Amino acid sequence: MRRLESLRADAGVLLSLMRGMPRGVPHEQRLQAFYAPQAAHYDAFRERLLQGRRELIGSLPLPANAAVVELGGGTGRNLDFFSTQQWERIARFELVDLCPALVERAQLRAAADARIRVHQADATTWRPQRLVDCVYLSYALTMIPNWRAALDNALAMLKPGGTLAIVDFHVSEERPAPGLQRHSLFTRRFWPAWFGHDGVKLDATHLPALRAALPQHQLVEARAAVPYLPLIKVPFYRFVGRKPVTD
Ligand SMILES: C[S@@+](CC[C@H](N)C(=O)[O-])C[C@H]1O[C@@H](n2cnc3c(N)ncnc32)[C@H](O)[C@@H]1O
Repeated sequence: MRRLESLRADAGVLLSLMRGMPRGVPHEQRLQAFYAPQAAHYDAFRERLLQGRRELIGSLPLPANAAVVELGGGTGRNLDFFSTQQWERIARFELVDLCPALVERAQLRAAADARIRVHQADATTWRPQRLVDCVYLSYALTMIPNWRAALDNALAMLKPGGTLAIVDFHVSEERPAPGLQRHSLFTRRFWPAWFGHDGVKLDATHLPALRAALPQHQLVEARAAVPYLPLIKVPFYRFVGRKPVTD
């Protein structure tokens, strides 16, 4: 019975994925049109698709009384990945997302904790009142058309020495820097085309831009299975960088 319900929920999400993102309307409206019909089942489906989130969050270095921001936080699913010990170190948490249907879900999830504020706003322009210790994006950079503005904004809201962490899909450059994985031509062509229909832009320049902005970092590249797509796996990375301290 439960299996039937979950298959039915998956079918609704798959239908939204097949319809894809509408074109020719502002980004906020595109997100709302895409996510509103699948918002109730978003978490269950993405659980299997968006790998590495728990590991990224578990690896965040948080000082005592930390101020943390998630940009493109969606339903707030990632709040549950923080351990009790991590929550003991967090004084202020701000979740920012542009899509009203997902923000509504995040507000419900965060309602019981006065430290958490949820903002319906654009990750490229929203700023906290004070600089923060940690900013992270989880599968959001690939969905933000002006991702460089989001990256600049994330860096600008960080204290010197603060942490910027990102987990996301990607494909490699044709000739990546030494030490980075090189993906086959098939991988570099197939995945951007597959996800592009749903407004997810796998971009070979994300990782080089992150590495250049934050030379002090840790990086893990891996592959994840995609629901209903056996045999092939999509590349993703986890990046945790420290903002330089300059005098
Ligand atoms: C794939 S979802 C990931 C959600 C969440 N971070 C997670 O891991 O479950 C990408 C999110 O980015 C949000 N998003 C896309 N463009 C945005 C923007 N310009 N500003 C804020 N959020 C944005 C979408 O609304 C969506 O919630």
